[in-house]
Amino acid sequence: MNREDCEIVSNIELMPGIYLMWLQAPEIARRAQAGQFVMVACGTENTLRRPISIHSVEDDRFALLYAVVGKGTERLTHLQNGSKLDVLGPIGNGFQVFPMPAGTLSYLIIAGGIGIAPLRFLAEKVKPWCRQIIVLQGAATASKLYPKALLPKEISLTAATDDGSAGHKGFVTDLIPSFATTADVIVACGPMPMLKYLAENQTRLKLTGKPVSISLEMRMACGLGVCYGCTIRTKSGLKQVCKDGPVFDLNEVIWDEMARI
Ligand code: FES
Repeated sequence: MNREDCEIVSNIELMPGIYLMWLQAPEIARRAQAGQFVMVACGTENTLRRPISIHSVEDDRFALLYAVVGKGTERLTHLQNGSKLDVLGPIGNGFQVFPMPAGTLSYLIIAGGIGIAPLRFLAEKVKPWCRQIIVLQGAATASKLYPKALLPKEISLTAATDDGSAGHKGFVTDLIPSFATTADVIVACGPMPMLKYLAENQTRLKLTGKPVSISLEMRMACGLGVCYGCTIRTKSGLKQVCKDGPVFDLNEVIWDEMARI
């Protein structure tokens, strides 16, 4: 893990309340794996670092897609191009990318809201081995959908919105049964109720027998395996999301007990 004073290359509001920030950071960009995150110092010395997923990597730059959810992330929105940001990372265990014969795998990517953040980087990484990559994306309304133009062009995107302003009217999970049977690998990231729904409705969603990896979004105080604030129960014992995750097998997590312990 590195600590870098990263130069902000751009920082724009991509969707309402959701920002895309590109940072110049050669070491983090070189080491980043899909599914990993960084801890960003959002403000004064008293402000905790915030975990933010690595969204994309290009050469010696990487991108963060972040939602404004509090004072720390609100402060990030005011940072101008050329200013510096103190970043620790890359951190955590990301998605396992299994090299297969080129063009053979079918990937199904399920993103709820800001859950698209780590999954775009994954799509970039697995592209060479995939014959198809399907992204199912859910959002509250059309303006909160991640722009298709920013996804790799090989990706097929199907949207769901709560209010029906774009794509299917309803939850992104409604779309899963139509796509899951032909998928070789399934990955998901989104709100905890969405992930729990996946775990508890595998037969209905046609996920049974498929490898399903999920990335957990959790509050993290240290992000370094020190405070135990992100501990969850799994079938192989207690795990820390920041150190052992954030990516886990769907069936490894004990979903009944996701409350902090
Ligand atoms: Fe402190 Fe994970 S956030 S141990």
